Amino acid sequence: MEEPKQLSVSAIENGTVIDHIPAKNLFKVIQILGLDRFDNQITFGTNLESKKLGKKAIIKIAGKFFEDADINRIALVAPDAKLNIIRDYEVVEKKVVEVPDFITGIAKCMNPKCITNYEQVKTRFRVVSKKNVALKCHYCEKITTQENLQII
Ligand code: CTP
Ligand code: ZN
Repeated sequence: MEEPKQLSVSAIENGTVIDHIPAKNLFKVIQILGLDRFDNQITFGTNLESKKLGKKAIIKIAGKFFEDADINRIALVAPDAKLNIIRDYEVVEKKVVEVPDFITGIAKCMNPKCITNYEQVKTRFRVVSKKNVALKCHYCEKITTQENLQII
């Protein structure tokens, strides 16, 4: 089958296009990046066809270029995300996201007795496995895996 040639969401002049987000995690990505607090022009499309993901989502943020450390925070919910850096309507760089070694906030510790679940303490984890994500809690040392990963 031939690829559709038109863009599902308008092209941008400058900024970042985050492609290949699993559609079900679009709003988690928006939340992790704090896009609801941005003044930039942002467009997104969701439930777009993707051979790899089934349904994918895409976010285009005009005039914004992220630091790697900030963008890598989305790797937990969008491990296959592709970043396209756009300048003067051209894709000048493509990047992939990488699961960071340490994660603060974002994820909930799966241990109900963990201090982070009953006091105002921000979660902190060391990433012990990146492929099938496994997070070791800095406080209780219990492992939270992909299957019971909950985004705060
Ligand atoms: N894009 C955009 N504005 C531009 C240029 C590109 O919004 N001025 C978007 C495209 O819509 C696409 C992404 O940036 O979603 C990547 O563009 P491009 O590399 O041209 O597309 P593909 O070759 O389809 O990318 P890939 O196969 O690497 O996902
Ligand atoms: Zn814990």
